[in-house]
Amino acid sequence: MVKMETAELETDLSLFKYDNLEQLPPRYRDLEEDERTERIEAALSELGDDVVILGHNYQRREIVEHADFIGDSYQLSKEAANADAEYVIFGGVTFMAESADIITDDEQTVILPSMEASCPMAGMAEALQVDSAWAEITDAAPDADIVPITYMNSYADLKAFCASQGGLVCTSSNAHEAFEYAFDKGDKVLCLPDKHLGENTAHRLDMEDEIAEWDPWDPEGKDADEVAESDIILWDGYCQVHERFREDHIAEIRAEHPEAKVIVHPECRREVVEAADKAGSTSTICETVETADPGETWAIGTEIHLTEHLQRWHPEVNVLPLCGDACMDCNAMRQIDPNYLTWVLEELVEGQERNVIEVAPEEKELAEVALERMLEI
Ligand code: 13P
Ligand code: SF4
Repeated sequence: MVKMETAELETDLSLFKYDNLEQLPPRYRDLEEDERTERIEAALSELGDDVVILGHNYQRREIVEHADFIGDSYQLSKEAANADAEYVIFGGVTFMAESADIITDDEQTVILPSMEASCPMAGMAEALQVDSAWAEITDAAPDADIVPITYMNSYADLKAFCASQGGLVCTSSNAHEAFEYAFDKGDKVLCLPDKHLGENTAHRLDMEDEIAEWDPWDPEGKDADEVAESDIILWDGYCQVHERFREDHIAEIRAEHPEAKVIVHPECRREVVEAADKAGSTSTICETVETADPGETWAIGTEIHLTEHLQRWHPEVNVLPLCGDACMDCNAMRQIDPNYLTWVLEELVEGQERNVIEVAPEEKELAEVALERMLEI
């Protein structure tokens, strides 16, 4: 088994992928909540069916309460694919809005209210970097068919790269199916960028002894022999929000609330997923609480906004954050400020499109192949 420690990043991650970033005009900065809600509702009723708002489970309350659909990244990509509206306003992060742009028709426009909503994990596997690693990895196993799988949390150019090599996209709700698809087609999987999702999926498939880790930032972290011997190669990316959870948090919550059950997201470390009662995507976490009996206690190991939504949506269940005040919010998701939502909607009423996400045509076609392969599994 390989080491699973997280290396300090030694590269500069380019967090803001799009350079058409437009800042919030000062007149929108200090809106009171009541006024803002009224203005958002007025703009939405003016725009009618021309607009649909998709909200990821990690968005703030003031965003999800205006969303037409709330869900995990897989559900939102399906909603985007089915949307008829001219404008899809994405309450989420850049890679999700890119996927929506890829999946929707050319006449539809995807707007990300704040362009600063960039997931750091997606920046940990840049297409150029993966392309050069690919040469080393394929050289290490020249007789093997390696299928690259990228987690949805990646940019369109990496999705396009994966499609070009026979690979596909997965989300936290279908990673095991994506691995099965890949092993049907080839001998090895390169899993990008989240090593924890990859390791947890390998366990689910009883392939935990088949793992090699590829650390692109560390010359010692790329072992060609290990790649040659292993069926699953994990890129060394991770999510800071989920890496924070430890086994100790589970032990502490169980000591304090012996009746509590624990559910965590598969971006958590392997030992945390193993110690939990259940692991799953953000929609699995929602369903678990929704279907819990009144009075049950569930401790949640994921981004804090979702835990807070579940506390509001299901007061009959005792919902606890797994590590109390130490649970983090996602800085990227938090960039979607309701003032930005007000601004982009009022601009649309005036006929102005702000903060449009438009994937480059040369990436779009192939990235769509990778997403369609996922939607078909
Ligand atoms: P889900 O696919 O479970 O919604 O997760 C997305 C995400 O970014 C988790 O950090
Ligand atoms: Fe990215 Fe983690 Fe935020 Fe999800 S929670 S969007 S993986 S930084």
